[in-house]
Amino acid sequence: MDKTQKIISLCKRRGFIFPSSEIYGGFGGVYDFGPLGVELKKNIKNAWLRAMTAEENIVPLDSAILMNSKVWQASGHLTAGFSDELVECKSCHKRFKLDEIKRNKCPECGGLVTKPRKFNLMMKTFIGPVENETTTTYLRAETCQGIFVNFLNILNSMRLKIPFGVIQIGKSFRNEVNPKNFIFRTREFEQMEMEWFCSPKEANRFFDFWAEKRIKWYFDLGIKKENLRVREVPEEERAHYAQRQIDIEYHFPFGWKEIEGIHNRGDFDLSNHTKHSGEDLKYFDEETKDKYFPYIIETSAGVERSLFAFLCEAYQEIKGGRTKTTKPTKEVEILLKFHKTLAPIKVAVLPLVRNKPELAKRAKEVYQMLKPNFTCQYDELGSIGRRYRRGDEVGVIASVTCDFQTLEDNTVTIRERDSMKQIRVEISKLKEVIQKILAGEEFLKLGKIVK
Ligand code: GAP
Repeated sequence: MDKTQKIISLCKRRGFIFPSSEIYGGFGGVYDFGPLGVELKKNIKNAWLRAMTAEENIVPLDSAILMNSKVWQASGHLTAGFSDELVECKSCHKRFKLDEIKRNKCPECGGLVTKPRKFNLMMKTFIGPVENETTTTYLRAETCQGIFVNFLNILNSMRLKIPFGVIQIGKSFRNEVNPKNFIFRTREFEQMEMEWFCSPKEANRFFDFWAEKRIKWYFDLGIKKENLRVREVPEEERAHYAQRQIDIEYHFPFGWKEIEGIHNRGDFDLSNHTKHSGEDLKYFDEETKDKYFPYIIETSAGVERSLFAFLCEAYQEIKGGRTKTTKPTKEVEILLKFHKTLAPIKVAVLPLVRNKPELAKRAKEVYQMLKPNFTCQYDELGSIGRRYRRGDEVGVIASVTCDFQTLEDNTVTIRERDSMKQIRVEISKLKEVIQKILAGEEFLKLGKIVK
């Protein structure tokens, strides 16, 4: 099994990600996020929100997925700008993107393929009960269009001055021809986008400013330097709206792939929406008395793609196991070494043994005490070693064990995921100690070391 397959299987087994509609045979290019996937996604989105709103002049928006179809006419998404070139195999009738085909042969069965045809990626839907032209619209293909069409609403209601940014997290949909690589390319996904409105003169400077911030964000959350690179996208490959584009790429097991795009969209969006809507979306600068279309610098990250990158980065296999045993073992232990901010479960609470009701009772009390403050799980099944490993497999940061000493002196042990070292602390100080562990303080200094 290759690394991607191992991650897919772990994700299903441990409740991160499930194939959509699985009991009906699945549904291509769509996935469901299970309990741990929800936590991980939430942590990624919160980390993004925190990083973006740490900057000046950033406001949020939550615009609708459904919009007037004229938006997509103006944005260029219904024209050639947002389509893939497709070929179809004359034998097996499977469809492929043109760039996946070598020498006019089907990669699956070797049959001859048709000439390429354009295939629009917008997901069509119908509003109201009658399916005709006037009721047709599309599920949004990028969240940013909601920001552009609300430009004046946001500017005026919030009394903003340029430069300012609008951030939004939400679902986008693309009828991808060939969804593949697990959650890397799907038909339904979430984007975290920021549109920074600035004077055309300052666009280049802000492009560099935001690119640097976004790259640093991945490093801060544990992506290694050697697994991230930036690609300057040449003109012929750029998105139809982009004057300049860089792709932030992650080194996935299946190659270097884009996880985020940074775009200088110039005045493409505001000028086109002005043309199509008849509303003047120019900005009036009170000081200089200039009236102009602001330029837009966009940072556009995929929630699932970054989640997949964080999963790949965190995934480790330890042959023979991490725990010292007297006899060598063939077991492979899995460790998801997530950054502390991202780990879906921060604390596991474990009674040392299950069959001592007073231990289980105490452990449940500790669990109830910690639950309002940290994402916690209570686990009493199997040996303590097995439970530690189950926690490691999903990246639990701290495992709190109630043992016989707990009943005597109200102390518990905490085992830290990465070092597997243990300290003993008083239950009354537990919350504070866990907070310090999560804040990155030196673990062994936070309690009495257990030898
Ligand atoms: N508003 C600009 C925009 O949408 P994009 O490069 O087409 O730019 C931005 O998309 C990001 O959205 C990508 O870098 C990727 O992370 C995510 N994304 C795009 N298509 C996706 C798909 N089919 N499946 C999963 N994520 C996707």
